[in-house]
Amino acid sequence: MPSTVALIVAAGRGERAGADLPKQYADIAGRPLLSWTLSAFHGHPAIDGVRVVIDPAWRDHYDRAADGFDVGLPIDGGASRQASVAAGLEALTDNAPGNVPGNVLIHDAARPFVPADLIQRVVDHLGTAQAVLPGLAVADTLKRCENGLVTATQPRDGLWAAQTPQGFHFDAILQAHRKAKGQALTDDAAVAEAAGITVHMIEGAVDNTKITTPDDLERARSSLGQREIRTGMGFDVHAFKDGDHVTLCGVEVPHSQGLAGNTDADVGLHVLIDAIFGALGTGDLGTHFPPGDTKWHGRPSSDLLAVAVAMMKERDARLINADITLICERPRLARHQPAMRERVAELLDAEPARINVKVTSTDGLGFAGRGEGIAGNAVVTLDLPVP
Ligand code: CTP
Ligand code: MG
Repeated sequence: MPSTVALIVAAGRGERAGADLPKQYADIAGRPLLSWTLSAFHGHPAIDGVRVVIDPAWRDHYDRAADGFDVGLPIDGGASRQASVAAGLEALTDNAPGNVPGNVLIHDAARPFVPADLIQRVVDHLGTAQAVLPGLAVADTLKRCENGLVTATQPRDGLWAAQTPQGFHFDAILQAHRKAKGQALTDDAAVAEAAGITVHMIEGAVDNTKITTPDDLERARSSLGQREIRTGMGFDVHAFKDGDHVTLCGVEVPHSQGLAGNTDADVGLHVLIDAIFGALGTGDLGTHFPPGDTKWHGRPSSDLLAVAVAMMKERDARLINADITLICERPRLARHQPAMRERVAELLDAEPARINVKVTSTDGLGFAGRGEGIAGNAVVTLDLPVP
């Protein structure tokens, strides 16, 4: 398989967007627009590397946008998009022999919504085509106008609106760009066409719009900043063993027995952690704290909860509420409920009003009724960014 590099052009001035800095650096839901675009390519299974073409005058903003992405040094762009792409392609030829890419996907930084499956389909088509262009068949009736007056209706048969990423065999597009120097061509497919390369049109994506105007920036802010509500649940049981207290929801409760487990066997915190992992969609206690991993043995379960809380922070997840139920005949837990709620709130760095701890028995039925152990369950609801 030839290697595939994504070349992101971000050297424009974004004049039509009217922001006080080039649109690719405009803040969209807490991140520069360019960083959303980089996220689409960085780590994509069909992409082996990403490089970005910029205007060096905006290097500070670029560094902020590229923070956390492995994209190498930026490449200095030119006065037109075509010149910026040409500069990017020439820079890629400086790669060590053997590292010059086989394929290149050229993409506008101003198209942050590009779906992963479109990137995949462009790369797949490069298996049989030298040049691949995603586009959408024009649906609206087309009018030709002069001074606000319609002069003609343009047949739309066979007309498509071009998008990026446009994919090419690297050598073919490099030679085509060298040849096109001096001519003004609006996209890389046009450069390829001018060099006699057959360009294959594939279905683009309706969402893959280019941010051009101030309205487009506003639309990007409302759709890329979207958050959603997710729920997770947890269930756990620990058996009694010899001892003089149990730890539940981070609170020590005196009892004639203890609870068996690798940690402090805090069934309340275990169900809470599992519910958090459930809402985050990231496995369970066993995934993150394998029973064989002695690192966690003898540790308070609050240490495990701290790991789950760090994962929530990393995902920018906010707790809406946590509801924990403890199920046992003995010890009686009702008078410890306020302390447990306070402690859980403290460990989650949340207001106590968002936490609820319930206790119940099973009317003498089952293992809990027979006093063999303590069971618990929890439901956690989080507000987090749409992945
Ligand atoms: N681009 C570039 N170098 C240029 C001009 C444009 O790399 N000299 C890039 C832009 O940064 C953008 C993409 O090409 O990601 C598409 O161009 P366009 O949407 O026209 O962006 P701008 O030229 O920045 O915007 P405007 O035309 O409104 O000034
Ligand atoms: Mg432009």
